[in-house]
Amino acid sequence: MPHDSSSSPPLEPSLELWTAVEKFLTNALVAPDPVLDGVLAAHAKSDLPPIAVTPAQGKFLHLLARIMGAKQILEIGTLAGYSTIWLARALPPEGKLITLEFKAEHAAIARGNFQRAGLAKQIELLEGPALESLPKVAAAHPAPFDLIFIDADKNNNPRYFEWALKLSRTGTVILVDNVIRDGEILDPDSKDPDIQGTRALFELLHNEPRVSATAVPVADSKGYDGFALALVL
Ligand code: SAH
Ligand code: DHB
Ligand code: MG
Repeated sequence: MPHDSSSSPPLEPSLELWTAVEKFLTNALVAPDPVLDGVLAAHAKSDLPPIAVTPAQGKFLHLLARIMGAKQILEIGTLAGYSTIWLARALPPEGKLITLEFKAEHAAIARGNFQRAGLAKQIELLEGPALESLPKVAAAHPAPFDLIFIDADKNNNPRYFEWALKLSRTGTVILVDNVIRDGEILDPDSKDPDIQGTRALFELLHNEPRVSATAVPVADSKGYDGFALALVL
């Protein structure tokens, strides 16, 4: 078992503790990988926001896709494609992943990363606002997706969830990132449209008979946050 080289962690829950535990888990469970580590290293040196999923979360997405035997994956929110690569690596050779990104700089960096990962043939990046791309995805891909990862502008989470349902079948898994936001999700009066969007998503999940949903809180170097997971019935 690899052990953490740092000194004793503080006992109070804190970003410092969560970061140390994340490091421990990454060392223990996520093997070094030239492609993924290269994507993160380039990301860290760039002006891109540091908001990709962590390595342990990326592997969680990857394992979930493998557990499900996902062949068709949809991602909303690409950034540099770190989560995209983890997910696409779970696909069988004939599998496909479509990812949606509206910032041209992010799309260009992501496309380079997909090339370097040897995944350019399996990943299709659609550039543009996701709400404009989704009708095109629906028209071009009548077959439903197996797994849908929503990780873009959180104010649109209710719209993305409705689209995800349209693009689903019984057994599709819809995963939504960043549904806790350091507990801000508790504030019904939040002026933050991202919080309001995610609160509206929970309202939809609560009332939607076509899904069974839960959420998994996460505390790590990115703070106190988490995933919502919905199974389409
Ligand atoms: N899934 C990535 C992180 C995505 S960050 C990972 O974990 O590695 C969110 C991304 O969504 C950003 O790149 C942002 O530009 C993009 N985005 C935000 N609003 C969008 C919109 N309306 N349409 C498409 N992409 C959007
Ligand atoms: C933010 C967005 C994310 O997708 C994430 O994982 C963390 C932070 C953000 O917009 O702050
Ligand atoms: Mg996210």
